[in-house]
Amino acid sequence: MPKYLVTGVAGFIGSSIAHELAARGETVRGLDDFSTGKRENIAGLGNKLEFHETSLLDKTGLAAACAGIDYIIHQAALPSVPKSVAEPELTHAVNVNGTLNLLLAARDAGVKRVVYAASSSAYGESETLPKREDMLPRPISPYAVQKLTGEYYMQTFSTVYGLETVCLRYFNIFGPRQDANSQYSAVLAKFITQMQSNQPPTIFGDGEQSRDFTFVANAVQANLKACLAPAEAVSGKVFNIATGVRFSLNQTFAMLQKIIGYTGPARYAQPRSGDIKHSLADISLAKKYLGYSPEVGFEEGLRRTVEWYKATSAVSQDMTLTTSR
Ligand code: UD1
Repeated sequence: MPKYLVTGVAGFIGSSIAHELAARGETVRGLDDFSTGKRENIAGLGNKLEFHETSLLDKTGLAAACAGIDYIIHQAALPSVPKSVAEPELTHAVNVNGTLNLLLAARDAGVKRVVYAASSSAYGESETLPKREDMLPRPISPYAVQKLTGEYYMQTFSTVYGLETVCLRYFNIFGPRQDANSQYSAVLAKFITQMQSNQPPTIFGDGEQSRDFTFVANAVQANLKACLAPAEAVSGKVFNIATGVRFSLNQTFAMLQKIIGYTGPARYAQPRSGDIKHSLADISLAKKYLGYSPEVGFEEGLRRTVEWYKATSAVSQDMTLTTSR
C-alpha cells in the first residue's frame, strides 16, 4: 500500500515529487483530473504509480484516494495570478473548496500529515525584503487570497482536528516539465521556449521587477523533508521555500541570452495587473526546522531547464517527422 498521495501528480511540481519518490524506491499514489496536468508527465512512472483520475471537487474520489495513506503532498491547484484575476470563482472553487475537501477526506481517513503547496504571493504588497513567515500577509490577487486561505485551513485542521499539516510557501518554482504553452505559463518556461525558437520574449513593465526563482529540485527536497520532520517542530507551521537570492527579469533575460545563444531583443509591454514588484525569501526557518538546503542555484537550474526544453522539442520534432513520413 503506498504511503504517499501526491495530488496534482500529473502537474509540473507534483510529477517531479512522484519521480523522486519512485527513484527512492517508494510506490506512490497520485491523483489528477488533467485540467492542467499532462499524461506525459507521469508516463515514465509505470507501476511505481497507483493513479486515481479524480478531481478535488469529487468527494467520493478523494475518500478512495486518501484510504490507507500516511502523507499527502498537496500540489493540485489552478495556479497563476492572472488566471485568478480572469476567473476568480473557478480558481476559488478548486484552490479553496478543493483544498477543504481534501483536508476533510484526509481527516476522515486518518492520514498522518498533509504538506501543502502555499505561495509567496501571500506576502503581496508588503515592501520589506526579505520576506519572513511572521510578516503580516497582504495579498493583492485572488490567487494569493486563495492560497493563503488554504494555509489557514491547514493550520486550523492541525489545531482543531489533530491532523498534522505543514505549509510550504513556494517562491517562483521553475524547471523541467513546467508547461510553456498556456497564456498563464510562468515566466521562465515562456522566456526559454520563446528564445529557443528565436522569438522575442515579452517583459511586462520595465523588467526591473525581481523574483527569488527556485529550481524545482529544491521544492521536491523541501516536500520530502516536510513529511518526515518531527511534528513538534513543523506541524501547523509555514515555511518559505526559495533560495534566498533574487534576480530581475532583465538580468534573467541576459543570462538566458548567453545560455541559449539568443541574440535578438526582448519586447517590453504594459505591467501586469496583480503583479508585485520584488520577491525575496528569508529561508532560515526552513533550514532550521526542515533541514532544507537549496541544492541547485538559479544559473544551474536555468541550464538544466534549457537542456530539458531542448531535448523535449527535439523529441517532438522527431515524432512529427516520423508520423509525417
Ligand atoms: C506568483 C507567485 C509564485 C506562484 C505563481 C503561480 C509571487 C512573487 N510569486 O508568481 O510564488 O507560484 O504566482 O502562478 O507572487 N512576466 C513577464 N513576461 C511573461 C510572463 C510573466 O514579464 O511572459 C513577468 C510577470 O509580470 C511577473 C514575473 O514575470 O512580474 C513573474 O511572473 P510569473 O512567472 O507569472 O509568476 P508570479 O506572478 O511572480
